Amino acid sequence: MFYIGIDLGTSSVKLLLSDEKGNILKTASREYPLIFPREGWSEQDPAEWWRGTKAALREITENIDTALIKGIGVAGQMHGLVILDENDEVIRPAILWNDGRTEKEVEYLNNIIGKEKLSQYTGNIAFAGFTAPKILWLKENEPENFRKIKKIMLPKDYINYLLTGVHACDYSDASGMLLLDVKRRCWSKEMLSICSISEGMMPCLFESSEVIGEVKKEFRLPFAKVVAGAGDNAAAAIGTGTVGNGRCNISLGTSGTVFISSDSFSVDEVNSLHSFCHADGKYHLMGCMLSAASCNKWFSEDILKENDFGLLQKDINDENLGNNSIYFLPYLMGERSPINDTDARGVFLGLSLDTKREDMVLAVLEGVSFAIRDSFEVAKGFGLDITESCLVGGGAKSPLWRKILANVLGIKLNILKTEQGPGMGAVILAMVGTGLYPSVNEAVSELTEIAEFIIPDSKLTALYEDRYNKYRQIYPALKGVFKNIK
Ligand code: XUL
Repeated sequence: MFYIGIDLGTSSVKLLLSDEKGNILKTASREYPLIFPREGWSEQDPAEWWRGTKAALREITENIDTALIKGIGVAGQMHGLVILDENDEVIRPAILWNDGRTEKEVEYLNNIIGKEKLSQYTGNIAFAGFTAPKILWLKENEPENFRKIKKIMLPKDYINYLLTGVHACDYSDASGMLLLDVKRRCWSKEMLSICSISEGMMPCLFESSEVIGEVKKEFRLPFAKVVAGAGDNAAAAIGTGTVGNGRCNISLGTSGTVFISSDSFSVDEVNSLHSFCHADGKYHLMGCMLSAASCNKWFSEDILKENDFGLLQKDINDENLGNNSIYFLPYLMGERSPINDTDARGVFLGLSLDTKREDMVLAVLEGVSFAIRDSFEVAKGFGLDITESCLVGGGAKSPLWRKILANVLGIKLNILKTEQGPGMGAVILAMVGTGLYPSVNEAVSELTEIAEFIIPDSKLTALYEDRYNKYRQIYPALKGVFKNIK
């Protein structure tokens, strides 16, 4: 039997074809553009996602017996607002997770409705990238589009809808809409009313491994069933075995996330971490920074015009680590966790005439690691004792970055034998939903294997402790400036 995992990312859609043992037999991907209509805005055309998914699906199913494909799972970029009209046409481009246009709506939700009420309704407060503030923005700024809304969905659910005709969403992804009562796993009537939308516009809710329907006949996958799938972070966590209580997964992808699985629902005191449902049927806490590996990609490719990241990092030696006098704030798209500031921007600090290119490259890797630590500190302050974590995402491929992060956090970092990102989590969910495994937990203990780990070095951890304490002073000093210069 075969299983397909689809990861609908921000820069591309990636498909995996797996056998019953989790061996990846084939992969296919298609890129699509990100649109920045204004500074800090971020959109994508859902038609591009679908074009890419269909093309990659054709490629991955070529020359195989499609009658053997049993299950499909989709994982996707979270929070994006996709709206359809009465003819099932997409009304406008999707507004994405890293879009910062909703400052006013976030202010309204957090300060006029109030954080306490939001937390009571949903387990979370408002952040610019979440879906509910986008709906409020649309109502105010594009009322003609708002009036046309018949269906509201998240990016991966658009793919599921076109594959099956079923308007569905899983609890992990739905959590990021600020419309779900996370603790009780149902839509929040209060939030739907605040956003002036009805429950009839919302998808039906499912657990991530539950089957939502069969693939439509036209795709010629006669026995394939589609499971509800998950938000990309929950799916990546499943793919690394981050289930149960107190396990951690860190992702250095376009975004950077610290994901902590939990058996029960909980929130930190000021809701600076997201409190969401997990794809294993339980819960998780998450900190999300908007630009992580994308900072390195931007600086290397767009600024230094070099695509070979290894080449740029090769002159950075052990003596440079912990001794760099350049600091970098990675807030290229504003920042979500933990500072929740859409005005924040990237900064290089400490430049002098003897600053070298590699000092700046190193500062970018360090700045992202420090920002990950900011969320990590919130989790620690919440009483969570995290001594190790899995590390995934494009940034995790760099041995240098792995070492920096292990020492900035002072924890052991585990690297999986075959890291396939959210797509592997989606495959596992499809296997569970179609009966190959009785539960997500049993599937991950069979299918995930750690290949290597990075242990922090006490001397280097001490040097980075000192640098982190200096780094922490920069944002508070510039917070007001960011607001004044925008
Ligand atoms: C999580 C988040 C990002 C996107 C990236 O809250 O916004 O990690 O899911 O695809």
